[in-house]
Amino acid sequence: MNINYRKAIENEIGDIISRSDLPEDYAHARGVKEWVIKLRPDADWTLQLAAFAHDIERALSKKKVIRSEFSDYNEFKNAHALNSAKVIEEILDKYPFNRKVKNRILSLIRNHELGLTNDVDIAILKDADSLSFFEVNLLAYAERNDESEILSRMIWGYQRLSKRARQIVKEFHYENERLNEFLQRIVSLEEKKEKKN
Ligand SMILES: [Fe+2]
Repeated sequence: MNINYRKAIENEIGDIISRSDLPEDYAHARGVKEWVIKLRPDADWTLQLAAFAHDIERALSKKKVIRSEFSDYNEFKNAHALNSAKVIEEILDKYPFNRKVKNRILSLIRNHELGLTNDVDIAILKDADSLSFFEVNLLAYAERNDESEILSRMIWGYQRLSKRARQIVKEFHYENERLNEFLQRIVSLEEKKEKKN
């Protein structure tokens, strides 16, 4: 794919995400891409673009999937991933794209929340997404939600991490002591579970 098209696509996606109502969305998109490169230094453009774009629907207030319309959190997350892929497909369709590359980007985005981790790139994307959640989004999330919601979101995020990524998150420290406490609680609970298995 022509390098100029790549830049144009990245700019178009970046413009949309930077206008999100959620102030942390742009930093998260960049953070996920950076984590992908840290976890997989040979990550190709396809994976890097999927990392940057994976949450795009959240930036579109008229199109985005609404949490309160789902009783199940995983169903909500899956609908969000599918909707993001739909938005990205509309953008990619404006460019002369190799169908295989396009389908790969869409598949990565569709599977970034709940996909099976026997696909190495999906596993990396999920780890990068959760690492950036703990690094960037959690602070903003904690300001908007009550403690039980924060704790259950942290548990959900921690449980989807690989062993390698859990080692990284374990070392995170927050200025908000409550978040440190929650994280320690989750880490020791999950370690107990790991020992049992
Ligand atoms: Fe994300």
